[in-house]
Amino acid sequence: MQISFAPLEGITGWLYRSVHHAMFPGLHTYYTPFWAPTADSPLSGRGLADVLPDHNQGVPLVPQLLTNRAEDFIAAAKALQDLGYQEVNLNLGCPSGTVTAKRKGSGFLSLPEHLDQFFAEVFSGLDLRVSVKTRLGLHSPEEWPGLLEIFNRYPIAELTIHPRIRTDFYREALRMESFRYAVSHTDLPLCFNGDLTSPLQYHAFSQDFPAIQHVMIGRGLVANPALAREIQGGPPLTKEELMEFHARLLEGYASVLSGDRPVLGKMKELWFYWSHLFPAPEKPLKAMRKARTLSDYTSAVQGLFRDQDLLPGAHFSPF
Ligand SMILES: Cc1cc2nc3c(=O)[nH]c(=O)nc-3n(C[C@H](O)[C@H](O)[C@H](O)COP(=O)(O)O)c2cc1C
Repeated sequence: MQISFAPLEGITGWLYRSVHHAMFPGLHTYYTPFWAPTADSPLSGRGLADVLPDHNQGVPLVPQLLTNRAEDFIAAAKALQDLGYQEVNLNLGCPSGTVTAKRKGSGFLSLPEHLDQFFAEVFSGLDLRVSVKTRLGLHSPEEWPGLLEIFNRYPIAELTIHPRIRTDFYREALRMESFRYAVSHTDLPLCFNGDLTSPLQYHAFSQDFPAIQHVMIGRGLVANPALAREIQGGPPLTKEELMEFHARLLEGYASVLSGDRPVLGKMKELWFYWSHLFPAPEKPLKAMRKARTLSDYTSAVQGLFRDQDLLPGAHFSPF
């Protein structure tokens, strides 16, 4: 089974990926958080920085794009191809209101005819692998069979399914019956994504779906950066590894971001996930959240690492 790192906007940018890959090698692919190309700007700014080969040395990477305009997708994909990428992923899953209001991400799923036309143009205009990461629909899982029929018309390199509809966001129960429907109604290579946060959940999934050869894991891997190693039978994450991972990320962000505030923002977001690994994280977490300077933040983190050990078997829970 191949295990990949799902894209998480704000978290799994190039710096995070390079530190993760250096310390916890073995993932099949990392997907970039989405870049939304426009006609004027197919690839620039943060999107370009995230995919620059210099920033991603040795990291197996697939860039992700968010758009509903075929010409913008094609222009950005060509720019990525010029940088050496052989696959580009289309985001049809983002549930955020600002994105769906523009009929992008999972909002694009509500325009099946437009989506069909989009794929027709994209697949005639490009000669690189185009993969798709999708939800089951915008408002209802009843949209799913029709959407799958559209996907089936095109040579999509791989279809990653997050079996929720838009209004489920990331918390409602997975709709596994719709994933099962896809397994028996498509010949496209499938990848599964959703709530695989522990080896137990992973093994239950792979028993239920022995034909699936690829899974994408997001929050579970952010909470426990060694999750894929554990799943593959390796040793569990140690506190020393988490301390080193934390230190390398902190140092990295401090060297590329200016001022304490953006660095603190990045680190605090990670603690939302890492805190699940500790028995009593509330107090130090509160001190971290209150910290306005890197030195206050660092003393709160040091206190946590000094006073608490990792909970054996702890993992992120979305519920
Ligand atoms: C903070 C956050 C940011 C995300 N950003 C993206 C993104 O840029 N592109 C994308 O396809 N999915 C994005 N996702 C969705 C994840 O890739 C993944 O589908 C979701 O977290 C479910 O998988 P998991 O249960 O393994 O975390 C994001 C999710 C979260 C929580």
